[in-house]
Amino acid sequence: MSKQKLIIDTDPGIDDAMAIHYAFAHDALDLIGLTTIFGNVFVEQATRNALWLTDQAGRAIPVSEGAATPITITPNAPSHYVHGDEGFGDMPAMRPTRSADPRPAHIFLADTIRAYPGEVILCPIGPLTNIARLLDHDPAIAALVKKVVIMGGAVDCPGNVTAFAEANIWNDPHAADSVFAAPWDMELIGLDVTSQISCDADDFSSIAREAPDIGGFLEQISLFYIGFYHSIIGRHVCLMHDPSAVISITDETAFEYENIPLEVICSGDRIGATIRSQQKRRPVKVAKAVDAMTVREIFLDICKQSDKIKKQSDKRQPGHA
Ligand code: BDR
Ligand code: CA
Repeated sequence: MSKQKLIIDTDPGIDDAMAIHYAFAHDALDLIGLTTIFGNVFVEQATRNALWLTDQAGRAIPVSEGAATPITITPNAPSHYVHGDEGFGDMPAMRPTRSADPRPAHIFLADTIRAYPGEVILCPIGPLTNIARLLDHDPAIAALVKKVVIMGGAVDCPGNVTAFAEANIWNDPHAADSVFAAPWDMELIGLDVTSQISCDADDFSSIAREAPDIGGFLEQISLFYIGFYHSIIGRHVCLMHDPSAVISITDETAFEYENIPLEVICSGDRIGATIRSQQKRRPVKVAKAVDAMTVREIFLDICKQSDKIKKQSDKRQPGHA
């Protein structure tokens, strides 16, 4: 069976790194590109970190840099207190070996989706600016994407940056609203489910034992992330937002969905809130319930394979003896 082509739009970011390594390690997924966006870090840091993750996985896929700022609002500060000054907890700035694709993210996305019509799943796990730009640049692209699986939003639960808003939507509410207005198949993996899915330090140690290289890195960056969550929820765990979106692609049955047309509040106290729309919009498949233990176990099982998968892909690289 052929693998599912996937592009992740990302602001790495600790849980972004977890999601990307999950995707690289999963044998049903073919991660064919990363596009980067401001959010957890500045976009230049996001690009550098994304390139470094491809080095670490031994997979020279294209990384294309996207927007540095939101469409309309003044940018919020990066969330260094959640992800660290350089994006990977206490780790210093990474030094990737490769450079970014010369195309801006929205052009790379249009070219790649058009090269594989109907085959690509687009998975944004950061603010939605690049995706809104893609729609602006090439409105017909909506019919050519297989589906868009978004980590973001808080539909029937409180937000995580304000009482109303989840971070990815809050960082560019206008972009998110235009993405929800587009006529394509969308799924939303938001705080309604991701705030139920957590891992602790023992979980990451178990990954590191089986996969000392990539798992060891995930263990190291998780410490900062667990420290942040401990400071706000008082438990030594971290929430698995971004990996959950990718896991919903490989293991949809772990989630229960409701079809809801969505819009985003773009000004005032409730800016960034994801609400039910009264407008005529295509309903979004919103994840409303999850088997959290199963998602956690899937994450651990797949990430434990990451070093083994890396060695297999090393052997396939040209020039390998
Ligand atoms: C989202 O915001 C970022 O901090 C995370 O990487 C995730 O994409 C969770 O609200
Ligand atoms: Ca993210």
